[in-house]
Amino acid sequence: MRPSSSLNLSFRSTINRMNNANDTMEKIVSLAKRRGFIYQGSDVYGGLAGTWDYGPLGVALKRNIMNLWWQHFVDSRDDMYGVDAAILMNQKVWQASGHVDTFVDPLCEDTVNHRRFRTDHILKDNGVNPDGMTMEQMDAAVVENDIKSPDGNPLSKSRTFNMMFMTHVGATNDESSVSYLRPETAQGIFTNFKNVVDSFYPDLPFGIAQQGKAFRNEIAPRDFIFRSREFEQMEIEYFVHPEAWEQAFDELLESTHEFLESLGLSPDHIHELDVPAEDRAHYSKKTIDIEYDYPIGREELMGIAYRTDFDLGNIQRVSKKSMEYQVKGSNERFVPHVIEPSFGVERALMAVLSESYREDEQNGEKRVYLTLPKHLAPIKFAVSPLLKNKPELVEKARQVYSALKKKYGAVMWDDNGNIGKRYRRQDEIGTPKCIVIDFQTLEDGTVTVRDRDTTEQQRVNIDEISL
Ligand code: GAP
Repeated sequence: MRPSSSLNLSFRSTINRMNNANDTMEKIVSLAKRRGFIYQGSDVYGGLAGTWDYGPLGVALKRNIMNLWWQHFVDSRDDMYGVDAAILMNQKVWQASGHVDTFVDPLCEDTVNHRRFRTDHILKDNGVNPDGMTMEQMDAAVVENDIKSPDGNPLSKSRTFNMMFMTHVGATNDESSVSYLRPETAQGIFTNFKNVVDSFYPDLPFGIAQQGKAFRNEIAPRDFIFRSREFEQMEIEYFVHPEAWEQAFDELLESTHEFLESLGLSPDHIHELDVPAEDRAHYSKKTIDIEYDYPIGREELMGIAYRTDFDLGNIQRVSKKSMEYQVKGSNERFVPHVIEPSFGVERALMAVLSESYREDEQNGEKRVYLTLPKHLAPIKFAVSPLLKNKPELVEKARQVYSALKKKYGAVMWDDNGNIGKRYRRQDEIGTPKCIVIDFQTLEDGTVTVRDRDTTEQQRVNIDEISL
């Protein structure tokens, strides 16, 4: 068993580890905690590795990303249907899908202190590319390159480790009550395929979309929220005629690029990787991974896979219920094939934070700011009276604040410290505009609107304040 202390990875130790790896990443992690975006899970008890809690600003940013995704892929199209399936599912789901047998990672162990590692990660960290290697080839590479554990001890041979969290449902504790926390949201879509067809009888092609939690008992959670044990996915299973999969694949890939652009990610930081057959998931005939240039290096942000009829075919075989689709006005029946765009919310959020993190100098002082797109910023406006001990300014500022709050919701009242400090605080959380109410406001109804990116200030009539 892995020593329980190694599960208690504190926020500080995460930062320390990444300190070596990347300075910018460390600054983002530190800002995320300090300003209430993301905290280590169970921090007060020393943390629980691979779990993260979202603070007030983090939850707002995350929701804005998820809502944008839903708007882009579901609400703005007429061929998408949403579902929200239970996380706990009948164990047959995971037997039929192949996850019980094949959802595994190669695990090796420090033979002295028994700390456990992912063998492919150990190889990568030592400059050996493990892509396409079998477990035996990885073990051979460890020996050939004389690779030791990070603590300098010999490593054991690898064994497979299933990443699903197993649990029992109900009061009995036997084989029949076994269930798993879902490792992907996709299966909750496949198991509802027939329900959606029966309720709506959509024309092919059509998609079913879902957002929600997924759980993987990662051997080595790492790089902040990039590889967590509990995370959130946004997935679509797009059902097509078997002969029409390529066209749908290309269309969804293009739509994915449009979505990533709407997150504010520069196309220069986004790369497509055509995943070689030996590295694809067991269900995939073609996968394109979208990689992003994170501060930790170029890594997978999301993937699009051609899952063929693998999943519906398995459900049909195991449940003995037909998953065939009957084409309207014809006798043609078949099990549809599937294109799956699969996004991780945390990886999208980490890309957004990485893309928007900036430092510059204003009036001889260092400034940190986030150039978050306005539609993603957790706070749209901060409203301040120039002086908080002048009741007439405070009263006017409160009126402006209430009017903006009614319209935009995410508006912050900020009257702490001097104006310069307020601007710095808002810059650091990516607030696009700061509104200041001063004595001139009382005379002519104009306010100062200060822009986060340019730091320029303009006099604007209260009725004309806009994002
Ligand atoms: N249904 C397909 C599927 O789950 P995947 O490549 O295993 O495919 C899809 O996962 C996406 O989920 C990844 O591209 C990534 O964005 C996210 N993801 C996977 N494992 C993750 C983890 N441990 N922590 C955070 N995000 C993860």
